Parts: sequence; C-alpha cells; structure tokens
Amino acid sequence: MKDLTLVFLLSCFLFASPAAAKDSCYDCHGQKGMKPYVDKSAFEQSAHGHLACTKCHFDVSGYPHGKVSKVNCGACHFIGTEGAPKEQAQQYKLSVHNRVTAVGNATLPTCQTCHGSHYIYPSADTRSSTNRQKIPTLCSQCHPREFEVYKNSIHGKQLLEDNNPAAPTCFQCHMEHLTPPTASNAWQLALIKQCGDCHSEELKTYRKTYHGKVTKLGYVTVAKCSDCHGAHDILMLNDPDSTLSRKNILKTCQKCHPAATPGFTKFYAHAEEKDRAKYPVLYYTFLFMTVLLLGTFAFFFTHTFLWAYRSLKERMNKKGGE
Ligand code: HEC
Ligand code: HEC
Ligand code: HEC
Ligand code: HEC
Ligand code: HEC
Ligand code: HEC
Ligand code: HEC
Ligand code: HEC
Ligand code: HEC
Repeated sequence: MKDLTLVFLLSCFLFASPAAAKDSCYDCHGQKGMKPYVDKSAFEQSAHGHLACTKCHFDVSGYPHGKVSKVNCGACHFIGTEGAPKEQAQQYKLSVHNRVTAVGNATLPTCQTCHGSHYIYPSADTRSSTNRQKIPTLCSQCHPREFEVYKNSIHGKQLLEDNNPAAPTCFQCHMEHLTPPTASNAWQLALIKQCGDCHSEELKTYRKTYHGKVTKLGYVTVAKCSDCHGAHDILMLNDPDSTLSRKNILKTCQKCHPAATPGFTKFYAHAEEKDRAKYPVLYYTFLFMTVLLLGTFAFFFTHTFLWAYRSLKERMNKKGGE
C-alpha cells in the first residue's frame, strides 16, 4: 500500500501536464506585487500565450530555481520548430545588428530589445512594440540623429502625424530584419526598387533616363533616387528646402557633376514624353520627331512603291513589245 502511494505521487510529478506547470509558475509570479511579476491575461493574449513557461525557461522546474539561462528566441525561430516563423531570425543573423565587430561599446539590439519578452503581439496589434506607428521611436533609442531628421521629412510626417499607412517606416527602407550596412552596393540598388514599390510611375520614368539605365546594369556611381531626393530628409518638391527646389537643385547635381550650370538642371529626371501638361517641350519634341519619322517613312514607302510599280509596268510594256 505504501509502495502504491509512492508510485502514484511519483507519476504525478513525472506526468505533470505543461498547463499545470504554467499554473504553478503563476502561483508566485502571477501575484501582484511579486517581483518578478508576469501579467497572466496580457501574456495569455500574446503570440506565445499558448506555450508553457518551461518551453522558454526550460531549466526552471520548481522552486527554488537553480541558475536560470537566458531565453534563446532562435531556439524556435531560427530552426522554425512548432510553427514559429523563421525568416526573420535568419535575416537578423546576417544583419549589421548581429555584427560581432560593432564599433566600440555600442549596444546591438537583440530580438528582445525590439519585441520585448512576454508581451509580444503581432505587429499589426497596437499594443505591440513593433507596431508600424512605433517603429521610428523604437529605432530612435539608438539612432536619435536619423530619427530627428526623418521626423520632419514628408515620410515621417505622413506616418507620425497623418497616420498614413502607406508611408515608409525606418524598417522598410532598411530591409527589415536583414538591415544591411548602408555602404553595401546591393542594398543601395535594392532601395531603388523599394522606392519604386510606392512610387511606381517615377521608377518607370527614371528607368528611361541615363541614371536609371546604368543603375539597372548594377553600377552605383550614377544618381539613385536618394542621391537627388535625399534619404531621411526627403521633402515635398514644392518645399523650398527640398534638395531639388529651385535654390538647391544645382548644388544637388554638382555633387557629381561639378561643372554643371543652371541649364544642366533642366534635364528631365522623370521624362514622360506622353505627358503634355507636365513636359510640354518634351511632348511636342516627341510629337514632332514621331511625325517626322513617320512622315519620312511614309514618303519613302510611297516613293518606293510607285518606283517599283513603274519599273514593273515598263518591263511588261517591253515584254509586250517583243
Ligand atoms: C514558490 C514561488 C515560485 C514559483 C512556484 C516559481 N518561481 Fe520563479 N522566481 C521566484 C522568485 C522569488 C524569483 C526571484 C528570486 C530568484 O531568482 O530566485 C524567481 C525568479 C524567476 C526567474 C528569473 C531568474 C533570474 O535569474 O532572473 C524566472 C525566469 C522564473 N522565476 C521563472 C519561473 C517559472 C518558469 C516557474 C514555473 C515553472 C517559476 N518561476 C516558479 C519564485 C517562484
Ligand atoms: C516566448 C518565450 C517565453 C515564455 C513562453 C515565457 N517567458 Fe519568461 N522570459 C522570457 C524572456 C525573453 C525573459 C527575459 C530574460 C531573458 O532573456 O532570459 C523572461 C523573463 C522572465 C522572468 C524574469 C523577470 C522578467 O520579467 O524579466 C520571469 C519571472 C519569467 N520570465 C516568468 C515566466 C512565466 C511565469 C512564464 C509563463 C507564464 C514565462 N516566463 C513564459 C521569455 C519567455
Ligand atoms: C518555444 C518556442 C518559441 C520561443 C523560444 C520563442 N517563440 Fe516566438 N513564436 C513561437 C511560435 C510557435 C509562434 C507562432 C504563434 C502563432 O502563430 O500562434 C511564435 C510567434 C512569434 C512572433 C509572431 C507574432 C505574430 O503573431 O505575428 C514573434 C514576433 C515572436 N514569436 C517573437 C519571439 C521572440 C522575440 C522570442 C524571444 C524572446 C521568441 N519569439 C521565442 C515559438 C517560440
Ligand atoms: C531592430 C529591431 C528588431 C529586431 C532586432 C528584431 N525584430 Fe522582429 N520585427 C521588428 C519589427 C519593427 C517588426 C514589424 C515589421 C513590420 O511591420 O513589417 C518585426 C516583425 C517580426 C516578425 C513578424 C511578425 C510580426 O509581428 O509582424 C517576427 C516573427 C519577428 N519579428 C521575429 C524576430 C526574431 C525571432 C528576432 C531575433 C532573431 C527579431 N524579430 C529581431 C523589429 C525587430
Ligand atoms: C526613404 C527611405 C529611408 C527611411 C524611411 C529611413 N532611412 Fe535610414 N537611410 C536611408 C538611406 C538612403 C541611407 C544612406 C544614405 C545616407 O547615409 O544618408 C540611410 C542611412 C541610415 C543609417 C546610417 C547612417 C550613417 O551615418 O551611416 C542609419 C543608422 C539609418 N539610416 C537609420 C534609420 C532610422 C533609425 C530610420 C527611421 C527613423 C531610417 N533610417 C529611415 C534610407 C531611409
Ligand atoms: C539597441 C540599439 C539599437 C536599436 C534599437 C537599433 N539599432 Fe540599428 N544599429 C545599432 C548599432 C550599435 C549599429 C552599428 C553596428 C556596427 O557597428 O556594425 C547599428 C547599425 C544600423 C544600421 C547600419 C548603419 C551603417 O552605418 O551602415 C542601420 C541601417 C540601422 N542600424 C537601422 C536600424 C533600424 C531601422 C532600427 C529600428 C527598427 C534600429 N537600427 C534599431 C544599434 C541599434
Ligand atoms: C537626377 C535626379 C533624380 C533622380 C535620380 C530621381 N529623381 Fe525623382 N525627381 C527629380 C526631379 C528634378 C523632380 C521634379 C521634376 C519632375 O517631376 O521631373 C522629381 C520628382 C519626383 C517625385 C514627385 C513627382 C510629382 O509628380 O510630384 C517623386 C515621388 C520622385 N521624383 C521619386 C523618385 C524615385 C522613386 C526615384 C528613383 C526610382 C527618383 N525620383 C529618382 C529628380 C530625380
Ligand atoms: C512604403 C511606401 C513608400 C516608400 C518605400 C517610399 N515612399 Fe516616398 N512617399 C510615400 C508617401 C505615402 C508619400 C506622401 C505623399 C504622396 O502620397 O506622394 C511620399 C512622398 C514622397 C515624395 C514627395 C512627393 C511630392 O509630391 O513632392 C518624394 C520626393 C518621395 N516620396 C521620394 C521617395 C524616395 C526617393 C524613396 C526611396 C528612397 C521613397 N520615397 C520611398 C511612400 C513611400
Ligand atoms: C550620385 C551622383 C550623381 C548625381 C547626384 C547626379 N548625377 Fe547625373 N550622372 C552621374 C554620373 C556618374 C553620370 C555618368 C556620366 C558622367 O560622368 O557625366 C551621370 C550622367 C548624367 C547625364 C547623362 C550624361 C551627360 O553627362 O549628359 C545627365 C543628363 C545627368 N547625369 C543629369 C543630372 C542632373 C540634372 C542631376 C541633378 C538633378 C544629376 N545628374 C545628378 C552621377 C550623378
């Protein structure tokens, strides 16, 4: 009888369900005023709410705790066990934010820095620390200078003041978790497409210009979108402080064309020959050249046809005369 009780007690320990383990953690950690405290309802609504505490804190089995290891998000997210999304962790591994050679004593962000520990919600949820609206502030912890400039740009104002869901956050231009070094040529070229995802007309017309053709071939020395428009400081074109305003455009071209004169800036950066209202000179030039070309073809075609007809007729006349 004594033996049976022991077996029963043992099996309770051995086969304790994870749910029971979670509850027992809350016995202490779920008490208000307890340090460290875990908010039960907030945790249960989070992305990981369905996981047992010990899935992440695998070395905690009861109290007193032994030495508790730091949680490794990659254990699930890098390899992708249990349906955890894995692309983000794989990209993060390659990013500047995972560089072991970071300069000086700079603090690099880990998954927890950006996402938090227990209260991780899908980023579409406004409670999430990675919600679109909060991203610039999140990055500003370590990149305050970029934030200050971005905040006053057209993109920053559209996102932060006007709540425009179509405006780019820091993460979008920097390729999310991949965040490559900004000196990388591959990123600089990829950013052109990124701008073009939102400004598709301008990308199409840019590709018709010298700069657009050369960058398409993979060369970065010619003007990319941000070389003319700026990066964090992009403003509306009608803003006098824009890099392309009447007073600044020459300086912008002169960065790479030191000999440029005001006439040089008349170059159409987004040539669209079919837009009569915006590019009248280009439109009429295009129209004139097209008419001239078609006219020339039409004239020579008619000429050749008549000439062929005449020589055929002459030949037939000759045959008839024989
Ligand atoms: C009897 C109360 C009690 C129970 C039950 C309990 N804890 Fe704790 N836990 C504590 C106390 C007190 C601390 C803070 C002091 C310490 O480190 O021991 C703590 C600290 C921790 C820490 C932080 C350790 C560190 O080094 O910072 C983690 C993680 C933790 N508990 C997880 C758990 C998990 C997971 C469970 C359930 C499997 C659990 N605890 C069950 C009382 C408890
Ligand atoms: C998705 C993984 C994950 C799950 C699931 C999880 N935790 Fe944690 N927990 C963390 C991380 C990350 C930290 C921060 C410290 C670290 O990096 O190890 C942490 C820290 C803690 C701490 C230390 C104090 C603090 O808040 O920093 C306690 C206590 C704790 N967890 C208890 C729990 C309890 C109780 C549960 C279940 C209700 C639980 N955890 C479930 C990831 C998790
Ligand atoms: C024990 C495995 C495990 C660990 C460890 C873990 N996760 Fe997860 N995580 C998951 C699973 C499974 C999902 C998918 C949940 C779902 O779709 O219901 C997930 C989802 C997520 C999501 C997506 C939220 C959403 O719904 O779009 C984020 C963000 C996330 N985890 C971040 C983290 C961070 C940060 C850590 C480290 C603190 C971490 N995870 C540790 C298993 C884990
Ligand atoms: C520099 C900050 C930062 C770091 C570091 C970071 N993330 Fe994220 N993560 C974000 C942001 C911001 C989003 C939302 C992206 C968006 O809105 O498109 C996100 C989105 C996600 C998502 C998609 C689900 C969702 O909530 O939209 C997962 C999964 C995820 N991160 C996991 C991780 C994991 C795992 C790590 C560590 C390997 C990590 N992240 C590191 C900032 C970060
Ligand atoms: C419209 C696209 C775009 C957005 C939005 C954007 N960036 Fe950038 N970022 C760039 C470009 C282009 C560069 C490289 C050119 C340069 O150095 O000015 C850059 C460079 C950087 C650098 C490196 C600066 C240096 O001195 O080397 C950091 C850090 C950075 N961005 C962080 C951020 C943060 C933080 C935000 C949000 C507050 C942000 N970026 C928003 C396009 C963008
Ligand atoms: C915890 C601090 C921290 C946070 C938060 C953070 N970063 Fe960084 N970031 C760094 C450090 C440190 C470096 C420098 C890495 C190195 O030296 O290689 C860096 C580098 C960068 C670079 C490359 C700069 C270059 O010179 O090429 C970009 C771009 C960048 N971060 C963007 C972001 C964005 C976007 C966010 C927000 C989603 C963000 N960072 C959040 C610390 C942070
Ligand atoms: C050589 C410099 C230069 C480059 C490179 C350039 N732009 Fe422009 N962009 C201009 C000028 C000048 C204007 C204003 C006159 C015009 O529309 O032709 C302009 C206008 C714009 C406008 C405003 C259009 C409107 O109707 O208000 C947007 C948006 C834009 N560019 C986006 C881009 C994008 C995206 C790229 C890269 C695919 C790009 N630009 C490349 C110089 C440039
Ligand atoms: C996620 C989408 C998105 C991305 C990526 C993006 N933009 Fe924008 N951009 C916008 C929105 C939204 C506006 C607000 C005004 C509008 O609707 O044109 C805007 C405005 C502008 C303007 C001012 C247009 C005007 O009428 O004067 C310029 C110039 C511009 N962006 C250039 C760029 C360049 C260059 C890049 C890449 C470095 C870029 N954008 C990336 C969404 C985007
Ligand atoms: C990032 C550097 C850069 C910027 C900024 C830039 N360009 Fe260029 N552009 C080049 C390079 C490199 C070439 C290749 C030919 C050369 O060296 O002149 C080129 C070629 C050209 C060409 C065709 C070849 C020629 O010389 O006739 C025109 C036209 C031109 N750029 C106009 C402009 C105008 C207008 C601006 C300002 C709105 C501008 N570019 C800004 C780098 C730039």
